[in-house]
Amino acid sequence: MSEHVLVEREEGLLTLRLHRLDKKNALTRAMYSRMAEVLEQADNDPSVRVVLITGGDECFTSGNDIADFLQEPPTGMDSPVFFFMRALFEMKKPVVAAVAGSAVGIGTTLLLHCDLVYVAHDAKLKMPFVALGLCPEYGSSQILPQMLGHAKAAELLLLGETFSGEQAAAWGIANQALESGAATLAKAKEMAKRFLHLPPKAIADSKELMRGPGREQLRKVIAEEGALFNQRLRSPEAIEALSAFMQRRKPDFSKFA
Ligand code: COA
Repeated sequence: MSEHVLVEREEGLLTLRLHRLDKKNALTRAMYSRMAEVLEQADNDPSVRVVLITGGDECFTSGNDIADFLQEPPTGMDSPVFFFMRALFEMKKPVVAAVAGSAVGIGTTLLLHCDLVYVAHDAKLKMPFVALGLCPEYGSSQILPQMLGHAKAAELLLLGETFSGEQAAAWGIANQALESGAATLAKAKEMAKRFLHLPPKAIADSKELMRGPGREQLRKVIAEEGALFNQRLRSPEAIEALSAFMQRRKPDFSKFA
């Protein structure tokens, strides 16, 4: 159980709120385990109709806790981060995200697996995997080129360009950009509550259809990305990049061929 993950209930709406603001909601192993548990329980609890994921109205998440990455990197598909992403990937119930402030790394990747995404117009989204000596994760190496074309996806995945909530909405990564974090959370709640009045089995069947025949292929991609990601986490390039973040200095990749 992690005190950094809060669960709130409002009728059939379950809100999972990341709450580790002093570390910009960086995600630890304990947080992933709790998030996986919350999602699995929500999917199996008939009184829950829809899940909202948020970090509140200031910051979504700065991604995986970098100290955790250095000290206790995931070892395989049975690590807490994989349990969480698998739980999200397999959700039969609708999942809505409300994003304000930073959404880094997995904070952006996870949005690709939500049903509806609302963002503050000035939110800052980023997938800096290559700069960290890592690689894309959880299907993003396939989903983003399909969604945006190779050239735009390369800017986001290879260069790790920061993009705004406004851009995320224009590119179809998010449904709508709102004027503030508070407005984003309010809009996401309002839209999530619409599911409370719809028939749950029809939602689940339709969600499954929308995932389409590419789903099996996506599972394979996720396994390949995961294996490579875990391997790269132990690479000298990643250790240099992650240590540089912790030591608040610029990484030096000049010694790598
Ligand atoms: N892992 C561990 N600690 C993190 C973190 C992360 N992913 N992101 C932020 N923190 C910590 C900082 O070390 C700092 O801790 P301190 O107060 O003990 O020194 C605190 O959270 C505040 O972060 P700071 O960088 O000062 O905030 P900021 O507002 O200037 O910048 C971010 C916010 C999100 C842009 C910046 O923290 C960042 O780039 N974080 C790393 C993102 C990342 O690369 N994630 C991994 C993706 S795979």
